[in-house]
Amino acid sequence: MIKYLGSKRTLVPVLNKLALASGAKTALDLFTGTTRVARGFKEHGLHVTAVDTASYSHVFAKTWIELNSQACDTRELEAALGHLSSLKPEAGYFTQTFCQDARYFQPKNGERVDAMRNAIENEYRHTWLYEPLLAALILAADRVDSTTGIQMAYLKQWARRSSNSLELQNPGLMPGEGRAILGDALDVVEHLEPVDLAYLDPPYNQHRYFANYHIWETLVRWDAPETYGIANKRLDVRTDTNRSAFNSKPAMANALTELVKSVKAETIVLSYNNESWLNREQLITLCESKGEVRVLDVSFRRYIGGQIGVYNRAGERVGQPGAKRNTEHIVIAGPRDVVDRMHRAALV
Ligand SMILES: C[S@@+](CC[C@H](N)C(=O)[O-])C[C@H]1O[C@@H](n2cnc3c(N)ncnc32)[C@H](O)[C@@H]1O
Repeated sequence: MIKYLGSKRTLVPVLNKLALASGAKTALDLFTGTTRVARGFKEHGLHVTAVDTASYSHVFAKTWIELNSQACDTRELEAALGHLSSLKPEAGYFTQTFCQDARYFQPKNGERVDAMRNAIENEYRHTWLYEPLLAALILAADRVDSTTGIQMAYLKQWARRSSNSLELQNPGLMPGEGRAILGDALDVVEHLEPVDLAYLDPPYNQHRYFANYHIWETLVRWDAPETYGIANKRLDVRTDTNRSAFNSKPAMANALTELVKSVKAETIVLSYNNESWLNREQLITLCESKGEVRVLDVSFRRYIGGQIGVYNRAGERVGQPGAKRNTEHIVIAGPRDVVDRMHRAALV
């Protein structure tokens, strides 16, 4: 799995418990990111629909949520990974932009990314292998990057892992049916069939995923955009087209209230950070439209960047590290008997 701001890796066990206790057969993950949570639900037998605005997240959702390993010939995937791994390195846009003009990856790995990404486009574009191959390439590149986990800057000195050779690995498909949707949760939600359980994990602040993970966007879109600044971000990071209401302090509360009201789910689970714009009481009020509300407060290991400190573009420390832990509020709302059952299950 890639390094991802706000990823719910450590919350997956408790979210799985909640989903099982709810008795849900169908689930919706409206801000799916890495798809960790959606994968946990799918593993426990739920039919999951995974939504996100990010192109790379859609690649993950197609790979792990929509594809059913039992319906795929996984030997074809192994053969394609072997073929890509054998390609001759070839410097192109990726090497120039992210390894030479900026230093996110060592050029020897950038040249392999260029060769593999071109082959994925030319040889697999209209096959079921397209997304799993892209997922494998993103995961491989993430293992040899030279950042603290976001792409707003690269490290002044090469990270040790960046010297390793980029290696493609089988992303490991999962059995079972599911659905992946690329889109804004606010637009998508009204067109979806009702589900038993919806999980909402919106962004917590003004920092946009589109900017934080611009390299993964470009690697998936493969559109060779013009870039700007030392971080070499896509030019369209500056435009309004890729903005989310959930990254705007004035818009966020209304957007979330609307989303909670309009999502067709018997029960919802919302996770939200205690250092963000809405406090515990506001979250409870916001979820009351769904019925009974209970909150679990889970101590959560902060994102590693927050622990390391704040750095400027030259890689010099300009801010102190924050606390190592903060609290994630998990708000459960729905029919009283279901919510009570979920709440009890999470406490044991
Ligand atoms: C906190 S992260 C979710 C992390 C995810 N639960 C995980 O464990 O990986 C928030 C996600 O919301 C997505 N996002 C932001 N605005 C969105 C919107 N309006 N509709 C759908 N997804 C959005 C971002 O791309 C990001 O992946």
